[in-house]
Amino acid sequence: MAQERQQYQDLILKLLDEKQEIPTTDGLTIPVDGKAKPINQLEFLGMVEYESLVTEKWELTAEGKEISETGSHEARVFNAIPAGSEGISIPEITKIVGNAAKFGQGAAFKAKWISKTSTGNIVRAVDSITDQSQIDLTLIKNTGAHPDASVIAALKKRKLISPLKVTFYKVTKGIKFSTVIVKEETDITAEMLLSGAWKNATFKKYNFEAVGAPPSRGHLHPLLKVRDEFKQIFFEMGFSEMPTNKYVESSFWNFDALFQPQQHPARDAHDTFFLSEPAVCHDLPGEYLERVKKVHSQGGYGSIGYNYNWDIKEAQKMVLRTHTTAISSNLLYQLAQQKEFKPVKWFSIDRVFRNETLDATHLAEFHQIEGVIADRNVTMGDLIGVLHGFCKKLGMEKLRFKPAYNPYTEPSMEIFAWHEGLNKWVEIGNSGMFRPEMLLPMGLPEDVRVIAWGLSTERPTMIKYGLNNIRELFGHKLDLEMVARNPICR
Ligand code: PHE
Repeated sequence: MAQERQQYQDLILKLLDEKQEIPTTDGLTIPVDGKAKPINQLEFLGMVEYESLVTEKWELTAEGKEISETGSHEARVFNAIPAGSEGISIPEITKIVGNAAKFGQGAAFKAKWISKTSTGNIVRAVDSITDQSQIDLTLIKNTGAHPDASVIAALKKRKLISPLKVTFYKVTKGIKFSTVIVKEETDITAEMLLSGAWKNATFKKYNFEAVGAPPSRGHLHPLLKVRDEFKQIFFEMGFSEMPTNKYVESSFWNFDALFQPQQHPARDAHDTFFLSEPAVCHDLPGEYLERVKKVHSQGGYGSIGYNYNWDIKEAQKMVLRTHTTAISSNLLYQLAQQKEFKPVKWFSIDRVFRNETLDATHLAEFHQIEGVIADRNVTMGDLIGVLHGFCKKLGMEKLRFKPAYNPYTEPSMEIFAWHEGLNKWVEIGNSGMFRPEMLLPMGLPEDVRVIAWGLSTERPTMIKYGLNNIRELFGHKLDLEMVARNPICR
């Protein structure tokens, strides 16, 4: 290709040197794809100037091509008849030339190439024929044109040729015309400066039109892109973000403050990662701790509690937080310590850890999205309404709720959304109203209700990016190309 281009450029320069001007490049002997490019290059170097000439040419249709290769129908009929014989029957001709027999026969009769004998056979009426259609079509095939306009009109009418626009160029000398293409320097080098060669060198012009090479850069992981989408939705709805920047939490905030009994199976080492260093937390709020102890062991605030011996040692155990609700409980306690209660709308999106059996849809760590609203007298109706508003912004219009159980919410609801693509209901999260046994020991006013919900980031991300295995999304099997390729998705 590069060599052909060079040959073409040399030819152009040679012709210009001889004749000053090339009126059209039509007919130049070297065929090059996209001839504009080599001429364009010469123009860029200032060696030539050019003008585009759009020319009407003709090309053969499929039928035209067939005729230029195998002859016209009438010629084929003529050729099918053996010379000097008693002729052959029409069915025999059809056997030899197929579909061409029908039109070919008529045309051959008209041209007086063939005639019929008394027996009904067809014989040759002349010794030889000139197949003018084939000759004309072959000429057009090779040159794109025919000197006789009436021939063009007739062939066009027979749908054997069709018009074709081709661009040629009128080329003239440019100000830097020369018959040799000089190598242009792209950079001025130390050697050129030392030797003085820069004085005679030709420098390549800057091409300000050129598209730059894409710079290498980092790419956001799909989970981060989806996190940003969620953040945006929460911000639009007037929520502010909770500080979740710690993975280690005491069992107290992760479980006890949430009225989750100390024997609860979730607090087992099978489900929770316990830390060995630091193994215990000494920084728990004293008075509140006593109230939590009391509500677990004896009840209060209208509850009978769980009736067991609450042990501070259990609450002090450090864990990798199993849900972001550990942050919510801590912040709700801080909210309760303010002099005057002010309603809040909070959200968080961050990583949590569970001692899971790993499979295609479970890892030991994932990301949770949590929304919390605390206000006087909010109801389950508010929760359902907020969830509808929230999910609508995610493109999920149809929701269903199913009663569920959480130690810290009552009532609790699982959230299902209708997935148009999968054509089924998919579980998207969990929600509920925090229990008085959780809120009242914190010191929140009695009429303050807190509604909350939680989702995972992984599930919507996998659905949106079409991934079936969570290991393709997170962990050492992650394909970095996938991260680079995938656009933001809505
Ligand atoms: N913490 C719950 C979970 O881990 C989610 C949730 C949050 C449920 C808030 C109710 C209220 O699944």
